[in-house]
Amino acid sequence: MNIRSTRLHELSTDRLRLRRWLPSDRAPFAAANADPRVMEYFPAPLSREESDAAADRIEAHFEARGFGLWAVEIPGIAAFAGFIGLAVPAFEAHFTPCVEIGWRLATPYWGHGYATEGARAALGFGHDVLQLAEIVSFTAIGNLRSRRVMERIGMTHRQADDFDHPLLPEGHPAKNLSLVRCPL
Ligand SMILES: CC(C)(COP(=O)(O)OP(=O)(O)OC[C@H]1O[C@@H](n2cnc3c(N)ncnc32)[C@H](O)[C@@H]1OP(=O)(O)O)[C@@H](O)C(=O)NCCC(=O)NCCS
Repeated sequence: MNIRSTRLHELSTDRLRLRRWLPSDRAPFAAANADPRVMEYFPAPLSREESDAAADRIEAHFEARGFGLWAVEIPGIAAFAGFIGLAVPAFEAHFTPCVEIGWRLATPYWGHGYATEGARAALGFGHDVLQLAEIVSFTAIGNLRSRRVMERIGMTHRQADDFDHPLLPEGHPAKNLSLVRCPL
């Protein structure tokens, strides 16, 4: 998918700054990725090396496309709370190529509406700057917290869109995924 923003962007909302990543984000990102609650619907918690490799992939996506999964700063509260943003999935499925919206916050920052607030700003960027016709999101069918964020930002779910993650083995708890769509 040849989608790219030519300017590097940061977004801000009432409570959040969505910015490019800093080297100092890596330790709190690794702490969140090692937390079994944060990683409940992923294959497994990540080691420090795996977490740093994930941060490297996020940085590479920003370099290639000018947008990505922004680091979330909550001024006055947290220098780094997690990520919220847009990404082009690296696997093939019935809905690719596409731009997805995603989020991952450390547990102290759950239950405050931060994910929804940042996701609305990311959707706005997808509409206004990238001029996308649609953004999708997907999550393990049981990930109700994430599904509630999708509903709150106005995404709609059709059961016929659900799919099996092509990179996970049969029987894996995160194999079956729900896809939601948001026409912009
Ligand atoms: C998915 C995830 C980001 C959702 O976080 P969240 O805090 O539940 O979602 P929001 O930031 O939108 O917060 C909404 C909650 O904050 C509450 N809230 C409190 N103060 C609020 C405020 N000022 N404004 C809005 N909501 C507020 C809402 O009532 C809601 O609570 P509820 O769901 O119990 O009703 C988080 O659980 C997470 O990072 N999970 C691990 C990673 C993951 O699974 N990512 C998705 C993979 S696809």
